[in-house]
Amino acid sequence: MEQTLLQLAYLVASIFFILSLKGLSSQETARQGNRYGVIGMSLAIVATLMNSQVDQYYSVILLIALGSAVGYLMATKVEMTQMPELVALLHSFVGAAAVLVGFASDRSMGVGDGHPASGLYASEVAVDIMIGAITFTGSVVAFLKLRGGVKHPALQKIKALQMISGSKPLILPNRHKLNAGAALTSLMIIVMYAVMSGKPEATGSLFAISLLTLVSGALGVHLVAAIGGADMPVVVSMLNSYSGWTASAAGFMLNNDLLIITGALVGSSGAILSYIMCDSMNRSIWSVIFGGFGAEPAPAPAGEASAEPQEEREVHEIEADGLTAALNEAKSVIIVPGYGLAQARAQADVYQLTTLLRERGVDVRFAIHPVAGRLPGHMNILLAEANVPYDIVLELHDINDDFPDTDVVLVIGANDIVNPLTQEEGNPISGMEVLEVWASKMTVVFKRSRNVGYAGIDNPLFYKDNTRMFFGDAANSIREVVGSLRG
Ligand code: TAP
Repeated sequence: MEQTLLQLAYLVASIFFILSLKGLSSQETARQGNRYGVIGMSLAIVATLMNSQVDQYYSVILLIALGSAVGYLMATKVEMTQMPELVALLHSFVGAAAVLVGFASDRSMGVGDGHPASGLYASEVAVDIMIGAITFTGSVVAFLKLRGGVKHPALQKIKALQMISGSKPLILPNRHKLNAGAALTSLMIIVMYAVMSGKPEATGSLFAISLLTLVSGALGVHLVAAIGGADMPVVVSMLNSYSGWTASAAGFMLNNDLLIITGALVGSSGAILSYIMCDSMNRSIWSVIFGGFGAEPAPAPAGEASAEPQEEREVHEIEADGLTAALNEAKSVIIVPGYGLAQARAQADVYQLTTLLRERGVDVRFAIHPVAGRLPGHMNILLAEANVPYDIVLELHDINDDFPDTDVVLVIGANDIVNPLTQEEGNPISGMEVLEVWASKMTVVFKRSRNVGYAGIDNPLFYKDNTRMFFGDAANSIREVVGSLRG
C-alpha cells in the first residue's frame, strides 16, 4: 500500500514537471511553469520523506536546512552577470552527487568484494559514476571558462590550470585518440566491474570505481577544455543535458522512478536546446559532444577579424542630443540587447526608453539572438524582469528581415551577435547566425570602448557609414537619452 501511494505521488510529481517544462517554453506561461515545478518538487520531497525506508530524519532535515541556507545565500548574492557560472557550478553538484551515490551504493548495497549483487545493478552503479564524473569535471571547467579563468594569484601560477580554464580551446596533440582511449578504458572498467560483481572471490571494487572516476573525470576536463569561448553556449546547455542523464542513471541505480523520469526530462530538453543552439551557431552537435571532434580550430584572426580593435579606423560617434534628434524623426526602432546590457544593469532604463518612444507612437521592438548574453534566455529574463511586454520581444528569425525597413536600431551592449564577420570564413564566429542590423537606416551601438566581444575579434559594424557609436556605460547613456527626449 505504501509503495503504491509513493508511486502515485511520484507519478503526479512527474506530471507537474512535464507541465512545468511546457510552461517554461514561452514567456507568457513561464511563471506558471515555475509554479508547477515548485509544486512537483515539494510533492516529491514530501513523498520521499514519508517513505518508510527513510529513517534518519535528523540528518535529512539538517542537510536540507544546510543546503537551503547555502542556496539562499548564493541566489541572493549572485549578480545577474554571474548566473551562467552559477548554472555551470550547479550542474557540477549534480555530477558530484551522482558519483557519491555510486560510491555509497558500492559500499552499502554490496556490489563488489564478493557480495552477490547482480551484474545489471553493478553496471548501473558504474555507468552512473562515469556520467557523474564527466559532468562534474566538465562543469567545473565550464564554470572556470565562463568566469574568465582562475582568479586566485596562487592558482594563476599553475600553467596547466590556466590552459584548461582559458577561453581559448586547449588543443592537445592526438586529442581525439586521447578521448577515445579514456572512453574505452572507462567502458572496460564498467564491464569488468559488472562481470566481477557477483563473484564471491572478487575484490577491489573500490579500486575499480576510483579508477573509473579518475579516467572519466579526466575525460570530462579534456572534452570541455577543447571547446573555445565562442562555443560555450552549447557546452552550457550540453552539460545541463548531461546532468539530467546523470540523475536518470542514479534513478536506475536507486530504483527510483521519479529520478528516472525527471532526469530524462532534463536530459532530453537540454539535448534539444543544445541542438537548437548548434543550429544557430552552425556547429555540429557531434563536434560539441566529442570535444571538437572533426572540427579544426579556427585559424588565428587576421585582417578585419583581428583580435585587436582597429584604432586607426574611423568611427562616427554620436551623443544624446544627436540620437534624440534621430529618435524624434523615427517611426520604427529595433533594440538589440547583448551581454553589456546585463553587465550595465540597464534593463530598467531600456524599459523607460521603450515606454517613452511607444507613447509617442514609435513602433519599438526587441530582437533576441539565441546566444545573446551568457546564458540561454539571458536577455528574455532581463527584459521580463523590467516588465517589457512579451509581444514586442522577437526571436532572430521573426525579425531579421525587418531591419531594412527600420529607421533606428539601438544595439545595447551587444557585439558578437551583430558582427558581420559571421558571414565570412576563417574566424571563430564564422557561420554563426547574426542579426543584420547594418541593413537598417541607422545603427547606434552603445558600448564603453572599441573593445572586442566574447569571441575576441573586432567588429566591422562599428566602421560602417550608417553606424554611430555611443560610448559610455549603457545604463548611463540610455538615461541621458531618456532625459534628453523628455527635455
Ligand atoms: P559580447 O560579444 O560579449 O559583447 C558584449 C559587449 O558589451 C562588449 O563588447 C562590451 O564592450 C559591451 N559592454 C560590457 N559592459 C558594458 C557596459 N557596462 N555598458 C555598455 N557596454 C558594455 O556579447 P553578445 O553580443 O551578447 O554575444 C554573446 C557572446 O557570448 C557570443 O560570442 C556567445 O557565443 C557567447 N556566449 C553565449 C552564451 C549564451 S548561452 N548566451 C554562453 C557563453 C558564451 P565594451 O567593453 O567596449 O563596453
